Amino acid sequence: MILVKDLTRIFEAGNQDVLAVDHVSFEVQPGEVYGLLGPNGAGKTTTLRMILGLLKPTSGDAEVEGFLVSSHPDEIKRRVGLVSTSAGLYQWLTPHEILSFFADVYGVHPLQAEERIEKLSRLFDITSFLDRRTATLSTGQKQRVNLARSLIHNPPVMLMDEPTRGLDVVGSKVIFDYIDLLREEGKAVIVCTHRLDEAEQLCDRFGLLYYGKKNYEGTLAELQQCTSCQTLTQIFLQLLDAPLEPAGILPTAQEELI
Ligand SMILES: Nc1ncnc2c1ncn2[C@@H]1O[C@H](COP(=O)(O)OP(=O)(O)O)[C@@H](O)[C@H]1O
Ligand SMILES: [Mg+2]
Repeated sequence: MILVKDLTRIFEAGNQDVLAVDHVSFEVQPGEVYGLLGPNGAGKTTTLRMILGLLKPTSGDAEVEGFLVSSHPDEIKRRVGLVSTSAGLYQWLTPHEILSFFADVYGVHPLQAEERIEKLSRLFDITSFLDRRTATLSTGQKQRVNLARSLIHNPPVMLMDEPTRGLDVVGSKVIFDYIDLLREEGKAVIVCTHRLDEAEQLCDRFGLLYYGKKNYEGTLAELQQCTSCQTLTQIFLQLLDAPLEPAGILPTAQEELI
């Protein structure tokens, strides 16, 4: 389970500070896929980086399976997987070498690593090119190696940053199936995306981020109820256009505490 507790991050950019993430709180249960949504620059990636321990929050903290990122960053890394389209693969290695390497980085026992590589290779249909240099693989094949890599240490939590960026329909379908698998396996998943149409199909619950602030949160049905809209895209545009009266706003976790 993931707990995001009042995370805030201010970047110093020249003589003007950027408030990238502004007191964001939410939680994600095992088996739940949470969509952290918002336009470019909303603060999605910055939030993920703080949860992962790659970036220090200005204030606030995050907790994964009972471990605080501020005090136990290594425990967090062991329990969290990351899928990001910007994550490159080592072109001169084979998928088998890449998977072994990451198993080692995560401290998976070599015997267990071989078992997992075999299982994930079957799952992602990469067995036939396991020993080919990654440079010679197609984009779709590389994508599947990347997904297998994210699960090599069998983390209970998965963070995904714009996972379908640059992918065609076939590639996107692979991601959709992968997310269904994560849900079935009871993992707590955060999907960051600006693609609201996709998020609507993929996620169980949503947090809408705008200029670093999470103003709205709920399931599609809950968000539909507090607007007169049907789709997430319509809902988002309406919420941005005309901030609702307090009575119509779904309280965020943070507001509920006050
Ligand atoms: N290292 C950085 N230094 C200064 N500003 C940054 C840095 N990283 C992100 N930002 C700013 O923080 C805001 C949020 O960025 P980001 O989290 O990448 O948004 P998103 O992932 O939602 O597109 C943006 O205004 C961005 O320009
Ligand atoms: Mg981003």
